[in-house]
Amino acid sequence: MIRLNVNGKAVALDVAPDTPLLWALRDTLQLTGTKYGCGQALCGACTVHLDGAPIRSCVTPVSAVAGKKITTVEAVDSGKVGKAVQEAWRKLDVVQCGYCQSGQIMSAVALLSENRKPTDADIDNAMGGNLCRCATYVRIRAAIHEAAKALA
Ligand code: FES
Ligand code: FES
Repeated sequence: MIRLNVNGKAVALDVAPDTPLLWALRDTLQLTGTKYGCGQALCGACTVHLDGAPIRSCVTPVSAVAGKKITTVEAVDSGKVGKAVQEAWRKLDVVQCGYCQSGQIMSAVALLSENRKPTDADIDNAMGGNLCRCATYVRIRAAIHEAAKALA
């Protein structure tokens, strides 16, 4: 049994210790907001927070995060930064197909939690590992600036 804290709730999972966190979230806990893209830590679709920092859940075994705090996109609006990011995403209509966007949002929230006034270079740096095949990068960057303004 692996014990985790997911979105503020203690959960005990009866899965093999090497199960990727992504599948524990999606298949066992039915938290399907986190997406599978590449499975190799290359695209960022599976990004969640581990104690507030972004991680790639597709390559993180559940045993590595036992006892730690995981936050997924389903609970991202429980914090002030997450709320501001969601609002900015809606206001600027960032999403195209949407597939990459929960990962994008998790990376954006982690960035703004650390840096309330990111420059374009800071954004490019923090978001570089989140790929978007619809190429919404310009709107993502604008929405991060918009959320930063709302948080100022
Ligand atoms: S699915 Fe995890 S980084 Fe692509
Ligand atoms: S919005 Fe379609 S992949 Fe990013």
